[in-house]
Order: sequence, then C-alpha cells, then structure tokens
Amino acid sequence: MSRSTAGETKGSTAGEAKGSTAGETKGSTADHTNSSRPIALAAETLAFFPLADVARELEARDEYRRSGVAGITLVRDEQLTLMLVALRQGAVMREHRAPSAGSVVLLSGTVGFVAGDDGPETALTAGSLAVFSADLAHAVHARDDARYLVVIGGRSRPPDGVVAGGSGVTGSDASLDAAATVSELLGSDHRQIDEILVEAKRGSAAGDAPRAADRLREFQRGLLRHMVAEEEVLFPALETSTGGRAGGPISVMRHEHTEMRRLIEDLVATLTRGDTEDATRRFGELTALLFAHNGKEERILYPMADNAAQADGSLSALLAKLREALRADAER
Ligand SMILES: [Fe+2]
Repeated sequence: MSRSTAGETKGSTAGEAKGSTAGETKGSTADHTNSSRPIALAAETLAFFPLADVARELEARDEYRRSGVAGITLVRDEQLTLMLVALRQGAVMREHRAPSAGSVVLLSGTVGFVAGDDGPETALTAGSLAVFSADLAHAVHARDDARYLVVIGGRSRPPDGVVAGGSGVTGSDASLDAAATVSELLGSDHRQIDEILVEAKRGSAAGDAPRAADRLREFQRGLLRHMVAEEEVLFPALETSTGGRAGGPISVMRHEHTEMRRLIEDLVATLTRGDTEDATRRFGELTALLFAHNGKEERILYPMADNAAQADGSLSALLAKLREALRADAER
C-alpha cells in the first residue's frame, strides 16, 4: 500500500481530451463502438475509438439507467489498460485502488476526485487530468453527468474490477446473472443496497445534507425495486408453492415494506430541509428495521422459497422473473 506521492492534483490539459471524443473513423473503429471486448495490443496495432459514441452506448445501458454507472474496457494489455466510464449525476465510484500508476481524464461533466479515505475532494472538469500512483485509494463522485477515460499503465490486474467491483453498483448484471438461488440473488441485492445506505448515513453524519439526500435517493430506488420484486414475484410464488403456509410471514414482510417506504419518505423530507441531526436519528431507526427485516428474509423466507421452488421445479423460472423485476425501473 504505497501512499508515497499524494496523487490528488488538478491539471488542466484542456482541449486534448475533448478532441479525442470527436469520433474519427477509420477501419476498426466501428467494431469498437459496439464491442464489449477490449482490444489487446499487438506489434502494429493502430486503433481509433469514437469515444462520444461509445459513451452514448454506455449511457443507454440498463446498468447505467439503474445505477448511474457504466464502464467499458477499451484496451487491455500488459503495459496499458484503457477504460471509458460514464457516471450519472450523483453516482459514485466507491473507493478503490488501481494496481499501477494511472490517470483519469475528464471528457465531459464535473466530478469530485477524492484521494485516500477522507482526503479532500478536488473538482475535475472537462479537460482536467488527475494522475495517481499505484495503490492510492481514490473515489470519484459525479457532480453532474460525466464521462472520463481511465488510463492505467503497467501490470494489468483486473481492470474490470476497478469498474464493476469498485463501484458497488446495485443490481449489477454480473451479480444478478451469477446467482443460482433466491437466497443468493436477493441476499446479494440486499448487500449492494445496504452499501448505499451506509454512504447516505456517512453524508448525514458529516453534515452534508445534499450528499446524504443524493445517496438516500439512490438507496430508495434500489430498495423500491427490490421490494416490488418481492411483492409482485416472490411472495405470490411462495404463497402458491407452499399452499398458503407462508401467509403469516409474508404479511409481516409486506407490513414492514410499507413501514420502510414511510421512513424513507420522511428521511428524504428531513434531508431536503437540511436537518442532518434529525436525519441521523431517523437513519438509525431505518437501519434497525431494515437489518431485522433482511435477516428474517434471509434466514427464513428465501430458503423457504428456494426449497419450495426446487421441489416443484419452478426455481429457474422464478429466478428469471426476479431478475427481470430487479432490472426494471423502480417507480413505487
Ligand atoms: Fe423485503
């Protein structure tokens, strides 16, 4: 963990980055626009990327609509890794470290670049460059819709991890697809949602009402989507497959969902007033309810659903429906 050179500088290489988004075309470029696979550099590789087009494609993805974060690795090589990242206003690339020295070039929008655990936040605007040494912990907060290029040199340890693993995005496609049971699917969704709540609480405890409200809304979107998936898919399936035996626990869960919706609405209003002191107390109340609720689901309800669905052969259909619901836009 070398923290030698503090890499929280703000440069201004205006023009250069913008120029490269213009989208020159030549031979291979079209491939790169739609390909999700990074190119590997060979002896005489010469490639061109229409970055503006690639960014638009990222912003049209479900994961971006859902979480506000999307990234693609453009080039992966022993010596070089290049990624394009799109962040929606309010989205956060949580603290992570790159395996080698690297840089972030802002193409559009504004982000706050935070070095270390509690380092100062430096604003980067289009044309700014941040350079950091290997293993320097850093996070990126989108102050408005932003696009940036990440350039990492040297060892190319999991570049995708920097984007996907580091972002802590809710309902990331990879984690949804990897789950083989209801317990895994909804349990991992709980954890991703919880992480956003932690960020919201941290903002409130620090007296930063706008940041806390922003993270709370992201948490709200994630939790609503999760609850709707349970109410409209899981609970009815469970009621059917258990012949009504699960009716009692399910009605408790539904009641707690209503309670959580109310607590979150109150919290949003409290933070909108800027009252972080009252918000911090309410966060405690919400966390206690959420913790108890999730525990009951994970210990009792999800295993019950897995057993019942495995017994009647409906597990894969149930998982497919739940995934679809978790990917839908949350409106309730
Ligand atoms: Fe629930």
